[in-house]
Amino acid sequence: MEGIRDEVKSVRKPGWAINPIFVNRWSPRAMTGEELPDEELMPLFEAARWAPSSFNEQPWRFIIAKRNTPDFGRFLQLLTPGNQAWCSNAAVLLLIVSKKTLSRNDAPNRVHDFDAGSAWMSMALEGTGRGLVVHGMGGFDRERARTEIKVPDDYDVEAMVAIGRRKPDSQLTPEEKANQRISDRRPVEESVFKGSFGKNIRA
Ligand SMILES: Cc1cc2nc3c(=O)[nH]c(=O)nc-3n(C[C@H](O)[C@H](O)[C@H](O)COP(=O)(O)O)c2cc1C
Repeated sequence: MEGIRDEVKSVRKPGWAINPIFVNRWSPRAMTGEELPDEELMPLFEAARWAPSSFNEQPWRFIIAKRNTPDFGRFLQLLTPGNQAWCSNAAVLLLIVSKKTLSRNDAPNRVHDFDAGSAWMSMALEGTGRGLVVHGMGGFDRERARTEIKVPDDYDVEAMVAIGRRKPDSQLTPEEKANQRISDRRPVEESVFKGSFGKNIRA
């Protein structure tokens, strides 16, 4: 198993021993601008495929646009200007949508977003292991995305993702260096409560 990568070590110090993949994953913005062959791209969706979901509904759907195809420009223009700037070097842009109703009885699926989130994380972790950038984005025009990408009414628009080959640190421009940073997290005690919301787990 790969250990904790040097690049994250100074910022990310897990309080408990965990699989290093969790701290090795982060969201760089600098990508090489190369295409990705299906041999590197499709395993990300294969990883997502095995995510858990309520009733095994698998509510996630991924609509992808590969660079150097007409779709890429259509997807790129949905993003905020800030995201467009760095995403122009992505190999693939994708939209995640999630089915709001259960296929078994058309009842509302109250956890479809939660399940789509699991699938996205699987994708991000698989990409991290492969040295790829897998960067989630909420900064895009949701209504335009729905129309442009022909998302059916019973699906929610969730998020967009940029995937690409990571640009090596030695090749980063000063702007690219300034535009990405490895982040820390609040302590686990601020997210995990004992018995009632807000109650300290050590109390
Ligand atoms: C659903 C979602 C939406 C996000 N939206 C954006 C975005 O629009 N633009 C951007 O540059 N980063 C975006 N991010 C990246 C987050 O800022 C980043 O995940 C967070 O700061 C934690 O950093 P890390 O992923 O490097 O650990 C988004 C991440 C997620 C999961």
